[in-house]
Amino acid sequence: MKLAPFLFNNIPKMLDFYSQFNPTPMSIKQFIDFGLSACEKKSFTFLRKELPVRLANIMKEIHLLPENLLRMPSVGHVNELYALSFNEILEFEKADTTSKDLDRFCKALIKIRNRHSDVVVTMAQGVLELKESHEIDNQTENSIQYFLDRFYMSRISIRMLINQHTLLFGGELTNDRHHRHIGCIDPQCDLVAVVKDAYENARFLCDQYYLCSPDLIINQHNELEQGAPIHIVYVPSHLYHMLFEIFKNAMRAVVEYHNHKNSDTYPPIEVTVVRGKEDICVKMSDRGGGIPRSLTDQLFHYMYSTAPQPSKSDAHTVPLAGYGYGLPISRLYARYFHGELSLLSCDGYGTDTIIYMKALSNEANELLPIFNKTSSRFYKTTIPTGDWSHSTSMNLRHFSNNSSSSNSGKNRSVGDVAS
Ligand SMILES: Nc1ncnc2c1ncn2[C@@H]1O[C@H](COP(=O)(O)OP(=O)(O)OP(=O)(O)O)[C@@H](O)[C@H]1O
Ligand SMILES: [Mg+2]
Repeated sequence: MKLAPFLFNNIPKMLDFYSQFNPTPMSIKQFIDFGLSACEKKSFTFLRKELPVRLANIMKEIHLLPENLLRMPSVGHVNELYALSFNEILEFEKADTTSKDLDRFCKALIKIRNRHSDVVVTMAQGVLELKESHEIDNQTENSIQYFLDRFYMSRISIRMLINQHTLLFGGELTNDRHHRHIGCIDPQCDLVAVVKDAYENARFLCDQYYLCSPDLIINQHNELEQGAPIHIVYVPSHLYHMLFEIFKNAMRAVVEYHNHKNSDTYPPIEVTVVRGKEDICVKMSDRGGGIPRSLTDQLFHYMYSTAPQPSKSDAHTVPLAGYGYGLPISRLYARYFHGELSLLSCDGYGTDTIIYMKALSNEANELLPIFNKTSSRFYKTTIPTGDWSHSTSMNLRHFSNNSSSSNSGKNRSVGDVAS
């Protein structure tokens, strides 16, 4: 897609203007109150400022990416999409609020959402293009990781705002099953039902791939009301996304580990759903052999995967694993409303993956990246010199390489000096 240059003449000025503002984080409670009052004009006047603010904050950060990454065709394409959408929303800056304008706005939002639907993959492609054509140093790797977390989080938040508006006012909600939903939020989200749904769909993929799959055991504990089913005010699609990803991981681990041991029985995956006063937790325990502690730092790195990369010829089928995006993106969904996603593993046995969510909707606030001096500095600073000794294997590597470290000798071990 080639864009007319005159379209973008004004963009740098407007980016500077809108990026001065911090995004306004909303809590789930505020989304619900806003949705219940269902005032389209109010939503329109909020979004025509808030969307450019969120877009400008992240677009400013795109510009700080390492030069060589910015030059990758896919990153250039993402950049253009953002510029185009930013421009389209600015057209409503001074628009009236007649029903015709509101209708036009709604349609523009749907168009923008569709335009950006492949952005996760396109950005990932850009990083791949860089890795294939350049040696990447640690500093670049860290900047990319830092950026992708913020970029994808910004995207999740922008889609949330767009979805709320279009579902409430664009007549997109037709399914009766969702009658109690407020936009994309379910005020009575049945946790166990979402667990079962995600399990069934992951199991379908696992059966397709391995011709077998582990069973599921669900335990519940409601600390507030013994025996009562556990509900949460949440976005079911976010919860489903996280559960589906961690089910796929657990199933793959269990089947591979037990196939490797020539066992034809697979221990079940156990899910424990707990409602406490402050948190709601979903713990998934598998007996898939666990993960060595030396690898745990890598698990949330984009593109870290121990699965073979899905081949392009299989593009029409959904792979069980292989992109290395499952965990990092799921953790962003958990963190988006101030929750968390953590892994605890026992090497040689299995893994517990825990999703934490805020039990109270007024505490479930959006977590949003803010563009400012601190964030910009991150892209420039070099990684600080370690102030703890390396592990033995690192020292040995220093020794054998007779390495001259960039830290003016401070990082050298006795081994280096001796050699
Ligand atoms: N429950 C688990 N047991 C053992 N290893 C795990 C488990 N969960 C994750 N891993 C390891 O972490 C890696 C990264 O997981 P992640 O979900 O991010 O990517 P992936 O599953 O390889 O690919 P995809 O993007 O398709 O999910 C996996 O390749 C696997 O090696
Ligand atoms: Mg995965």
